[in-house]
Amino acid sequence: MNILVTGGAGYIGSTCVHQLVKAGYDVVVLDNLSQGHRAAVHPAAAFVRGDLDDRATIDDVMQAHRPDAVMHFASHTLVGESMEEPFLYLDRNVRCGLNLIRSAAAHNVERFILSSTANLFGTPEQVPIDASERIDPGSPYGESKFILERILHWMDALDTMRFAALRYFNAAGAAHEDLGEDHDPETHLIPIVLEVALGQRDGLSIFGDDYDTPDGTCVRDYIHVLDLADAHIRALEALGDGSCTYNLGNGRGYSVREVIETARAVTGRDIPATVSDRRPGDPDTLIASSDEIRDDLGWAPQYPALETIIETAWQWHQKHPHGYDD
Ligand code: UFG
Repeated sequence: MNILVTGGAGYIGSTCVHQLVKAGYDVVVLDNLSQGHRAAVHPAAAFVRGDLDDRATIDDVMQAHRPDAVMHFASHTLVGESMEEPFLYLDRNVRCGLNLIRSAAAHNVERFILSSTANLFGTPEQVPIDASERIDPGSPYGESKFILERILHWMDALDTMRFAALRYFNAAGAAHEDLGEDHDPETHLIPIVLEVALGQRDGLSIFGDDYDTPDGTCVRDYIHVLDLADAHIRALEALGDGSCTYNLGNGRGYSVREVIETARAVTGRDIPATVSDRRPGDPDTLIASSDEIRDDLGWAPQYPALETIIETAWQWHQKHPHGYDD
């Protein structure tokens, strides 16, 4: 099977490409390298540098590679940024996704996998969050993903293609010591904590300690990037039976303070942290119920422990203190 992976040079996309190649799929990556890294792309995958805003580029890739399925990772993905620059999300994210879906439909692609997000649930009424939770996106970022889910819903309803919407909770960890997370600027908690551990930052800010959580700091469900990749491959194979939507997390939450404590234990380093103001758009608690994907596809996280997640990220950060640029 030929798979087109947008954002395949990014953190989660490059890990999925790696696992797809290992599983025997033919992969072409389309990435504008605005956040991704050419060096992160598996050498067995074809690579096209291009932007999803350019419909001709997408059509060219579709014609040249004739994919059977599309995995769409390329996206702006920051909750906080989307509160400050809503149109990067409500316009660009949506437009680029729509360009891709339109081209996939025109080229008879029958399977589409969308990276969606826990931010669809805003401030959830029930935790862990299962399929019955109401949708009320917590930010323009979450809204942009929901709009793409709805477009795919209509592709399915009109019998154009089947889709899987995979709603990630907090992706973390590294596939191996040479394939990990490298954003510029970095905004995610675990890599920032590890940059402090490496001495690249003096300390970190804890964004608020007055949330309605046991220690007052935000609680998130961290899921290993290899477990996400596994879910993508299972969903890809299951799409022959129909469309599906799943939450992807470990079902266990950790507060910001617990993440910092665990990182201190894993690295043996100090990791100074001080409390600052809340970051706009952050909900108190996000924890997934992934019962549906467990029941339907037999998916089960292989790396659920926070220690393992941080340990794998730490190995990558130690070997590549400057990411892919060293
Ligand atoms: N945090 C800090 N200090 C920092 C960085 C983060 O206290 O320096 C806190 C945040 O306020 C938040 C938690 O750590 O409470 C996790 O923040 P991240 O930035 O690592 O991740 P987010 O929860 O904001 O968002 C991530 C992805 C989104 C996805 C979401 C789903 O970036 O794309 O998980 O839960 F939608």
